[in-house]
Amino acid sequence: MRRLSYLASLTPLETWRLVRRRLPILRNGPAWTADELLSSSKHSRGIRFAELLLRQEAIVRQYMPWEPLDFTDRRVVEIGCGPLAGFGPLAIFCGAKSFESAEPEWDPVLFSSKPVADRYLRVFHADLVSLYGPRMDFEAFRSALDDRMSIHRAGFERAPIEGPIDIVLSQSCLEHVFPLDATIDKLATIQTAQTRFLHLVDFGNHYPTGNSFDGLYEQPSADYIARRGKAINMLRAPDVAKLFASRGIPARLIASRIVGDSYAGTIHPWWRERHDDTALFTQLALIVGPVT
Ligand SMILES: C[S@@+](CC[C@H](N)C(=O)[O-])C[C@H]1O[C@@H](n2cnc3c(N)ncnc32)[C@H](O)[C@@H]1O
Repeated sequence: MRRLSYLASLTPLETWRLVRRRLPILRNGPAWTADELLSSSKHSRGIRFAELLLRQEAIVRQYMPWEPLDFTDRRVVEIGCGPLAGFGPLAIFCGAKSFESAEPEWDPVLFSSKPVADRYLRVFHADLVSLYGPRMDFEAFRSALDDRMSIHRAGFERAPIEGPIDIVLSQSCLEHVFPLDATIDKLATIQTAQTRFLHLVDFGNHYPTGNSFDGLYEQPSADYIARRGKAINMLRAPDVAKLFASRGIPARLIASRIVGDSYAGTIHPWWRERHDDTALFTQLALIVGPVT
């Protein structure tokens, strides 16, 4: 019922976006438009990447020694940066030598367009100046983005990104990658023991339901994916941590949001045989390293 009333509250444009994301046949369909992105409360706020980083680093510091990421002269990679270059503008503003990403939905024409420059990058730049100081003016910022950012329209596993990389980031991306193994294989080839990495993974159902796991655990993982399409890969936090370990990347798993109490569904034995409640109800987790 809750999901129905949510769907009824959407504008036609929002409904179209949702349908497009959920139906595999349409997922590689129509590209993002500037209007769509700039009217989205999520996508239109570039400074959210700084806020996310500040919050996530503060959480990590509660569990392990962690100096704030210093982008100065670093080679930075982001997996799945999204249509507006994700952490890229922040990393470049803070002095990164290069920012590389692989993003299947990347559209360089859209990113270089006037609406994106005027309504996204200008505001993002002003917010970066407030937060980190006047490191470069807007024109220098634009040309640094042109010179030092390279984003491939491809899955990360296939992208021509080579190591060694100093910093690797991803934000709500690893749960969408099919299959994740190939991406972790690629990470293993470009990371060194010194590479600092921070991945935020959202293990919820990605719907605004009462509990973030509503609908997920009533059937085995493969049945959910068969019904809903390849939107989320259904790996749980320990599965992802094990994948990193299996590829020789020691990582710390930090559960940063656990929400089980309001879950009212029946958990299928398939899940019970594989995971305990902590794993099942970890909605947000950070995968962090290096672990020394
Ligand atoms: C929820 S969005 C997050 C985008 C961005 N990180 C953000 O926080 O706004 C997930 C992104 O992962 C990307 N993605 C899916 N599979 C991928 C893959 N194999 N390699 C790189 N990116 C991928 C999608 O295109 C999408 O932009």
